[in-house]
Amino acid sequence: MSNKAFYLDKLKTEVNPVKKVGWDNVERAQLRYEHTAGQLRYLGCTSVLDYGCGIGGLYKYVKNDMYYVGYDIVEEYKQDLLIPSEQFVTKFPYTSVFDASVLLGTFTLNKEELSNDAFFAEFAKVIENNITSNTDYLVMTGFHEGVDKKDPKLYYFNINQLVKYLHSIGYVDIKITFPISPYEIFLKAKLSL
Ligand SMILES: C[S@@+](CC[C@H](N)C(=O)[O-])C[C@H]1O[C@@H](n2cnc3c(N)ncnc32)[C@H](O)[C@@H]1O
Repeated sequence: MSNKAFYLDKLKTEVNPVKKVGWDNVERAQLRYEHTAGQLRYLGCTSVLDYGCGIGGLYKYVKNDMYYVGYDIVEEYKQDLLIPSEQFVTKFPYTSVFDASVLLGTFTLNKEELSNDAFFAEFAKVIENNITSNTDYLVMTGFHEGVDKKDPKLYYFNINQLVKYLHSIGYVDIKITFPISPYEIFLKAKLSL
C-alpha cells in the first residue's frame, strides 16, 4: 500500500479527525498542534504554510493570530476539511511567501518502503524545492532513531544527519526539543539571509 493509499483509507474508515490523517494518538496530536501554535506565536509569525496539512487540524489553533494555508497531496481531504476550502491547496509550486512552513509528521510514514537514504532524499527535495524559497522559519516534527521498537512502516530521522543537512542549506538557530513524546522531534530553525 502506498502512502497516499494509506491516508485515503484512513480518511474513509476513521471518524475522529486526528485519526483520519493517520495519527493514532489523539492527545499527542492536540499537544502537537498546541505546541506548534505557541511556537509560531513566539516567533512572531503572522502567516503559515502547513505543508502536509491533512484536513487542517492545526488551523483552529492559529487562525486568530495568523494567515493560514494548508497544502496536501490528498485532494480527497476536500470533503472533510477543518479549514475554509480556499485555504487548502493541492498543487505546488505555491508562490506566496509565508513567515513559517510547518511540517507536522509529513515525513513519518514509509509505506513506500524506501531505503533511509531514498526517504531522506525525498524529504530534502521538498525542503529545497518547496520550503526554502517560501519561508523564513521551518517548524517540523518527525520520529527519531532513539526508539526501542521500530515500526517498519515508519521513518526515523537521524538527528545528527538532519541538523547537519539543514545547516548545509543555510538554516541557523536549529533547536530540537521533545515536548510531544521522547520519540518525536519538535524542530524549529531559521533560514539565514
Ligand atoms: C501524519 S499526517 C499529518 C497531517 C497534519 N500535518 C496533522 O498533523 O494533522 C501526514 C500528512 O502528510 C501528507 N503528505 C505526505 N507526504 C507528502 C508530500 N510529499 N507532500 C505533501 N503532503 C504530504 C499526507 O497526505 C498526510 O496528510
